[in-house]
Amino acid sequence: MRSHYCGDINASLVDQEVTLVGWVNRRRDLGGVIFLDLRDREGILQVVYDPDLKDVFETANKLRNEFCVQVKGRVRLRPEGQRNSTMKTGEVELLGLELTILNASAPLPINMDSNQTNSEEQRLKYRYLDLRRPEMTERLIFRSKVTSAVRNYLDENGFLDMETPILTKATPEGARDYLVPSRTHKGKFFALPQSPQLFKQLLMMSGFDRYYQIVKCFRDEDLRADRQPEFTQIDIETSFLTADQIQAITEDMIRGLFKKLLNVDLGDFPRMSYAEAMRRFGSDKPDLRNPMELTDVADLVKDVEFKVFQEPANDANGRVVVINVPGGASLSRKNIDEYGKFVGIYGAKGLAWAKVNQVGSGVEGLQSPIAKFLNDDVVNAITERAGSKDGDILLFGADNKTIVAEAMGALRLKVGEDLDLVEDKWAPLWVVDFPMFEEVDGQLHAIHHPFTAPRNMTPEELAADPVNAISDAYDMVLNGCELGGGSVRIHNQEMQAMVFKLLGISDEEAQEKFGFLLEALRYGTPPHAGLAFGLDRIVMLMTNTASIRDVMAFPKTTTAACPLTNAPGEANEAQLTELGIASLVKADEQESE
Ligand code: AMO
Ligand code: AMP
Repeated sequence: MRSHYCGDINASLVDQEVTLVGWVNRRRDLGGVIFLDLRDREGILQVVYDPDLKDVFETANKLRNEFCVQVKGRVRLRPEGQRNSTMKTGEVELLGLELTILNASAPLPINMDSNQTNSEEQRLKYRYLDLRRPEMTERLIFRSKVTSAVRNYLDENGFLDMETPILTKATPEGARDYLVPSRTHKGKFFALPQSPQLFKQLLMMSGFDRYYQIVKCFRDEDLRADRQPEFTQIDIETSFLTADQIQAITEDMIRGLFKKLLNVDLGDFPRMSYAEAMRRFGSDKPDLRNPMELTDVADLVKDVEFKVFQEPANDANGRVVVINVPGGASLSRKNIDEYGKFVGIYGAKGLAWAKVNQVGSGVEGLQSPIAKFLNDDVVNAITERAGSKDGDILLFGADNKTIVAEAMGALRLKVGEDLDLVEDKWAPLWVVDFPMFEEVDGQLHAIHHPFTAPRNMTPEELAADPVNAISDAYDMVLNGCELGGGSVRIHNQEMQAMVFKLLGISDEEAQEKFGFLLEALRYGTPPHAGLAFGLDRIVMLMTNTASIRDVMAFPKTTTAACPLTNAPGEANEAQLTELGIASLVKADEQESE
């Protein structure tokens, strides 16, 4: 039905006749001439209808927004002065010679302008229309280019594209499972995979050596701007490669992707230990575009007469840090109070501050409600260590290590945004040397997942001091976003059993949940390692989008629903009976929740 895409019409086709199909983006009637902006997935082209061609002109007159039409015409240069350099096709236009209405459109339920006034709910309810908008179309086309480049890279490097089950058993990645009831085994449930983790490890045990899959994963967790319940991983696993080798391959893949699609050179990714990232940035995914750091000053304030600082400064689990904000002395009391409230969200009890009027002049050089608690030596030592200059502000956080890292890490990001301190660049890095476990109320939890190997340790050594054990895990971070993460896996049955034990999983539970894995580990499992990238997040960053929903064709709302299909829906009595399930919640009760 067509000879070209609208977006591909340019000056090289002048005087040629072309046939196009697409949608009416806009129709304007200007002094007896009709201008039609015709749109398809590749772009928009201006079509002009002269009244001389009576029949065609009459049909053009009937067109309304979003009619689907076929247009035949002759390409010509736009008159001088009417060329539009911001448009891909802005040099040319089409003189319309024939016009067929393929389908009319009812008046639209949403606004199609780039200047969006639709609510997210409306956009998702009419997603098929929302996706016609060029900015959405372009992002999804870009996404397709990303998956294609990733596939090419992995194919060329000997990775095999293999599928793994969607109806499966729980795969622990730290979220809740989506469950699917079984009709043939009443009372039993499949779980949708949170990741293909166990199956990709089993494929290594089978000898496939290099696996990848671009695969849907399902996690029932609280949603945020960069999280969806159903999202896509670029999932990778290899045998016989070290952590360094697999990082080198995947770094090369991401570098190539940015070069090919954005012409951006990411360079070599620096590496930073988890401990350093937490210490300097209060985050395991530091945004290195932000120039500020958390500077530890506990040793400098441990003797000051200010309990807020003194107590954590003398507590092994406490921390006192300062963020030096360049130019921050211009912040108003109101701004500072707002930041005080902001850190409160993360459990901080306050935010002490000091404006630096004159560096090196001790207490005199400061303007601060806590100046009275400090002395000249302490002040000069703090400003020197924090690298303060006249006109900066020091923001203090004092509490236990976790609260300080979370509150001050988040504050660093917020102040960086607010004061426009974030550099305009790409800042990738690897975060490595994660601890194996974190301890919460005396119970160990896996920092990555329970299949991650500790570095250079026997099961007994691990058991002797699990809290200080370092794992062979690594995360790739870009501009403060965790793009992907992975690890060297446990390939030894005793070690796997020990990790389950340390995590408080009884032998019985381990057998019930992961018996197949423990058994498989007995039969010549190769050393293996892998990682998974969040495809949606990669596309978000590359297209500079703040919401993960804008890079997915059919995402869910923040309450994990789909306004287009009205999923999740109810099951009727007959279906429930067949599945052996009784619902405790009546639909009308749910509605009123
Ligand atoms: P992890 O849980 O870190 O690791 O997930 C890997 C990457 O997937 C992305 N991601 C998400 N993206 C959107 N919405 C979500 N809800 C979501 N959750 C995770 C992130 C993350 O870095 N099996 C391991 C990988 C491995 O060890 O090989 C795993 O799933 O970008
Ligand atoms: P207070 O003595 O509680 O009135 O606090 C004096 C100053 O210290 C105020 O500016 C508080 O915001 C600040 N402050 C209180 N608790 C903390 C804390 N845990 N970390 C940093 N500053 C704090």
